[in-house]
Amino acid sequence: MIVGVLKEARAGESRVSSTPATVERIRALGYGVVVDPGAGAAAGFPDSAYQAAGATVGDAAAADVVLGVNAPVPAQLDLVRPEATVIALFAPAFDPAMVQELGGRPFTALSMDAVPRISRAQSMDVLSSMANIAGYRAVIEAAHEFGRFFTGQVTAAGKVPPAKVLVAGAGVAGLAAIGAAGSLGAVVRATDPRPEVADQVRSLGGEYLPIESPEVEVSATGYAKEMGDGYRAREAELYAAQCREVDIVITTALIPGRPAPRLITAEMVAAMRPGSVIVDMAAANGGNVEGTVKGGKTVTENGVTIIGYTDLAGRLPAQASQLYGTNLVNLLKLMTPGKDARLVLDWDDPVQRSITVVRRGEPAWPPPPVQVSAAPAPAPARAVAEPAPKKAPATARQRFGGAALGALALFLTAAFAPAALLPHVTVFVLAIVIGYYVIGHVHHALHTPLMSVTNAISGIIVVGAILQIGHASTAVTVLSAVAILLASINVFGGFAVTRRMLAMFNRS
Ligand code: NAI
Repeated sequence: MIVGVLKEARAGESRVSSTPATVERIRALGYGVVVDPGAGAAAGFPDSAYQAAGATVGDAAAADVVLGVNAPVPAQLDLVRPEATVIALFAPAFDPAMVQELGGRPFTALSMDAVPRISRAQSMDVLSSMANIAGYRAVIEAAHEFGRFFTGQVTAAGKVPPAKVLVAGAGVAGLAAIGAAGSLGAVVRATDPRPEVADQVRSLGGEYLPIESPEVEVSATGYAKEMGDGYRAREAELYAAQCREVDIVITTALIPGRPAPRLITAEMVAAMRPGSVIVDMAAANGGNVEGTVKGGKTVTENGVTIIGYTDLAGRLPAQASQLYGTNLVNLLKLMTPGKDARLVLDWDDPVQRSITVVRRGEPAWPPPPVQVSAAPAPAPARAVAEPAPKKAPATARQRFGGAALGALALFLTAAFAPAALLPHVTVFVLAIVIGYYVIGHVHHALHTPLMSVTNAISGIIVVGAILQIGHASTAVTVLSAVAILLASINVFGGFAVTRRMLAMFNRS
């Protein structure tokens, strides 16, 4: 079979469904590849790069498997052969007209945006790969409009405070935005009705702002549910307070199958400082922010810029095409079990069933729901409520008893042991006490480097062996030489290990 890579027909689309790198991987499955002339030009991939990867340049719509990013336009669909399979982002859940259009066609249509968010489909999850890029790009767009540092600085010319960024919604795009804003040095806060994301926000250096409400609960699906009035009122209070304080707001809130929840009102925008920036990532779905212009940028009367771009992933076209193309390769791998250039649609596979909009001319939308479980089931309350029993701290009586026993042992040693032993015992006891307090105050993570550096104590062996090496006895000389060698390995090896371990704590 031949795989065709379409030139995108939608105005302004810069992505392409396969890059030269993914063409090679498609060919490894046995397929031939034909690419529309100029298909990858807007993403920076000239025809010659595809040819170098083994593709031919020709009519992609006439291939057996036709790949696109956006849904092909009717003129392209007219060229598709009846037995062919077209794979693209048809958005059947949001575009009933497209479902109807495809319903009258004789071929098979698979929609990449319908890949269920289940573990085994992660490698094909186009929405996540695009949202990840878009979240990053949202921060770059915000930084560009903001026109000030994100990171705080103290310079000879004055002090610059760090930018404060609020991210609403900590799903794929939100987490990518938190990571990008944090790495630029901003102070980042985020909120989300799913409390399980709090740790993820913190692990990216952000502060999680909880909204106290009885409705808040760990989601079993990885998606938020529609929240009630109580939550919405508290959420509005939080957004109103944050808007007065932060410089940048990035909104990514989404409830599947619903219009985007409205989070930021015009009054909240009016309370923001001039020069502040809002990126409304949900612009295509109705917007999380009042006043967003879908696909555009607007500046409010008080000087707040609201960005509603719907092509954020496409603004990094080479990267977006590479990830999209890789998601497609993974789907083709799944559907080509024999690696023999034969595409097989397995109707019993929930992933393949979920993405099928039309099967050989038969409408197949909507698919049956897929059971998703993104969050682990909450542990039984008892298991959580019962922490591991802690060792009770020693009572004063136990401590005094221990000290008395130690004093008695020291007295008996002094009274009955040979006189030469006493200084050794004293040094030994002191070493235990000092060692306990010194090591006890070192962080656990540093115990290994600490122990390895104490290998340097073997230096005493080196000193002793050097003193003995000139001895008349050959045996003593040999033993001294061996001792010097081994103790030196111990000392220098200890320093080498310490150095390596400390390097792990070094941020640079
Ligand atoms: P996601 O489903 O992974 O994350 C959405 C998050 O919003 C979830 O964590 C959910 O709990 C949260 N949420 C729901 N209601 C909320 C509320 N009231 N307040 C705060 N958070 C709330 O979705 P993903 O993939 O991260 O996409 C996010 C948005 O970005 C979507 O609207 C998507 O269409 C859009 N997007 C936009 C692009 C663009 O170019 N503008 C490109 C890619 C995605």
